[in-house]
Amino acid sequence: MEKDLERLESVYRPRTKAGEFWDHRSFHPLVEDVFLLERQFQELVLETVRRKQWNPQDLFVCELGCGWGRNLSLFTELGIPCNQIVGVEFLEHFIATAKKLQPALDIRRRDARETGLPGASQDLVLVHTVLSAVLEPRLQADLIQEALRLLKPGGLLVILDLLPGYAMKFAEDAQGKTVPFLKPVAIAPLFQALGGQGRIFYQSSLGLRPRLRGLFFRRLHRLLRAPKARRLMAELASCLPFASTHRFFAWEKR
Ligand SMILES: C[S@@+](CC[C@H](N)C(=O)[O-])C[C@H]1O[C@@H](n2cnc3c(N)ncnc32)[C@H](O)[C@@H]1O
Repeated sequence: MEKDLERLESVYRPRTKAGEFWDHRSFHPLVEDVFLLERQFQELVLETVRRKQWNPQDLFVCELGCGWGRNLSLFTELGIPCNQIVGVEFLEHFIATAKKLQPALDIRRRDARETGLPGASQDLVLVHTVLSAVLEPRLQADLIQEALRLLKPGGLLVILDLLPGYAMKFAEDAQGKTVPFLKPVAIAPLFQALGGQGRIFYQSSLGLRPRLRGLFFRRLHRLLRAPKARRLMAELASCLPFASTHRFFAWEKR
């Protein structure tokens, strides 16, 4: 296995054992400030599908680096038939959880750079916080190339990732050594490299820096008693370039 994928496996294993990825504090709707990004992402996917005027019943979708499959459930909720949803992930323990949570879906343990799916078979390919997890630019480029190969003409490559400027994070690997965990990637130049093969269809900033989340959802809690008011303020703030943490891109293949 390549060094970068070995590093990934090594940093994800201890964090998974600690329950980080399915602990309710990580992604649960009841944790309002953490869930802000989740909700914004889901709304952006809905908006993108709406803008395309797609019928969910007709869609074939795939997530590269699907982890334990949390985004795949968004596709089922959209009404996309289960046999038209594929998740690809190479970490065995994530795959095991994804299959347990979503037994009806096609979840494959593979390197997402070689999915084994037919070319021009997908309407939407999602790459959610994968490029920042992979540090090697060549691996990132190969993932994008595979996504492009999979897309039908008019299909969308949806990328959500950290904005450049977000501090690089480190973590302990299985041997207790400190290694890079994630590193923000500039996505726009990746699309520029794709030249005339498509265009950016829709994009938006989202997420809110932790201090601001704390301000809107905890410190101002008494003033902003209505949940809708808290959300609205937080979402408005997350449109500001210095306040947001992530960027959503939907790139349309010609
Ligand atoms: C930060 S996690 C995000 C998981 C998922 N997309 C989500 O949002 O919940 C990044 C995932 O990408 C996976 N990944 C990175 N490179 C991969 C590759 N070449 N093939 C398959 N999975 C890969 C990692 O194993 C990890 O599960």
